[in-house]
Amino acid sequence: MDRDKRIVLTGFMGVGKSTVARFLASLLDCRRVDLDSFIEQSEKKTIAEIIKTEGEKRFRQLETENLQTILLNEKTQIIALGGGAWTMEENRRLIKERNLTTVWLESSFEHCWRNIRMSKRERPLAKNKIVTRQLFEEREKFYCLADWHFIIKPDLTSFEIAKKIAEEVFSLKFD
Ligand code: S3P
Repeated sequence: MDRDKRIVLTGFMGVGKSTVARFLASLLDCRRVDLDSFIEQSEKKTIAEIIKTEGEKRFRQLETENLQTILLNEKTQIIALGGGAWTMEENRRLIKERNLTTVWLESSFEHCWRNIRMSKRERPLAKNKIVTRQLFEEREKFYCLADWHFIIKPDLTSFEIAKKIAEEVFSLKFD
């Protein structure tokens, strides 16, 4: 198994990055950090509150600062990013500089939108379907820059996706 590999999971809102990261960390028995949760803990505010009260620009600054802190801890092998983090050039540079492998969880807009609507989490940047679809289309070109692409079909469970990543990216063998 490729024990030393460190990865970041990217992809659009609602694709399931955090859940896949959780299963993957338990399969690999390694340390995982969710960037949004990390920011919420350090700022003692929810991401929605930060965006609504301080604006998206400030949120992006916090995202980069916190990403930098997380990357410094070499023991963290799996990082689940928020959907916009990988679209920022500075963040991509920081991730590459530290030699992490990027994994894009790719899915259809309709699948992501369904999950966004079903989720209890407030996402201020996904206010309505038209605006969110536009964001989805604009971001495709950035997600494409990831090292690995995994197509998330709606019939696959998050556990099955995590298992696929463990097998293909980390060369983990399951009996
Ligand atoms: C964002 C995605 C969110 C969160 C914030 C902004 C985005 O994370 O970071 O609301 O710009 O796509 P999820 O992808 O986990 O929803």
